[in-house]
Amino acid sequence: MTDPVLDFAPVLELAHVTHAFLGRDVLRDISLAVMPGEVVALIGPSGCGKSTLVHLAAGLLEQKSGRIARRFARQAMVFQEPRLMPWATAEANIAYAARLAGMGRHAARDAARTAAARVHFDAADLGKYPVELSGGMRQRVAIARALVVAPDFILFDEPFTALDAALKRRMQDLVIAQVAQASFSGLFVTHDLSEAARIAHRVAVLHPEGRGIMGVRHLPGAPGSRDDEAVFALTRRWQHEDPLFRHIHDVDERRIA
Ligand SMILES: Nc1ncnc2c1ncn2[C@@H]1O[C@H](COP(=O)(O)OP(=O)(O)OP(=O)(O)O)[C@@H](O)[C@H]1O
Ligand SMILES: [Mg+2]
Repeated sequence: MTDPVLDFAPVLELAHVTHAFLGRDVLRDISLAVMPGEVVALIGPSGCGKSTLVHLAAGLLEQKSGRIARRFARQAMVFQEPRLMPWATAEANIAYAARLAGMGRHAARDAARTAAARVHFDAADLGKYPVELSGGMRQRVAIARALVVAPDFILFDEPFTALDAALKRRMQDLVIAQVAQASFSGLFVTHDLSEAARIAHRVAVLHPEGRGIMGVRHLPGAPGSRDDEAVFALTRRWQHEDPLFRHIHDVDERRIA
């Protein structure tokens, strides 16, 4: 039987977390919680520490101080870059994650094919190596690799940036649908305010120099219940009326450079 108290405990909880690279604090006093069935979008300007925070949450880095509690069974990480094994085909990249999660060879291959289909990756391309794939295709392989392990918690770091508008929407819908089925919760980094407005329950804004979470906004209704008009209205309000979003620009400055 599940403990009713535990059901209300955050699945991910960071309390006063600090992290330093080469003696320089990049994150200071970060406190953030993700509740069961909840998606929290994390936004902030480039270089403020979003990826670092996600890597800490995933346990890939160890914090300098503070506490991180993880109450999920299986996390799935999508890095900002696809990070595929260059010597393995798309299918083998996805299947490898399933094998690591304990699946047999045939089951892993079937699961890889199913996961690829979910991210609209053409079966005909599954035999290709990463170098033969476009940026958007590589990123979808990375998403399929994350989903193939049936995670109960996702840590997605700007996963859809390399995708065109239509695909991006489909991928967002995939996340929304999974969360609605209560199959996972997650922390989702994005620089795209309308993406945050579509897929999240709450939006957390990281300080431009990583000095804490500046504020959190609860979004009305469930993700998936907001139509384009509602998403547009939310985004506009944040940009024009909400001081919390003063440092957030709804463009990817790295693409302009
Ligand atoms: N491995 C590392 N060694 C040293 N410094 C690092 C390392 N990784 C990140 N940093 C520094 O930490 C800070 C935060 O970087 P991080 O990648 O977390 O930012 P971000 O918010 O994800 O940026 P972006 O939006 O561009 O992805 C930056 O100043 C960066 O230079
Ligand atoms: Mg980053």
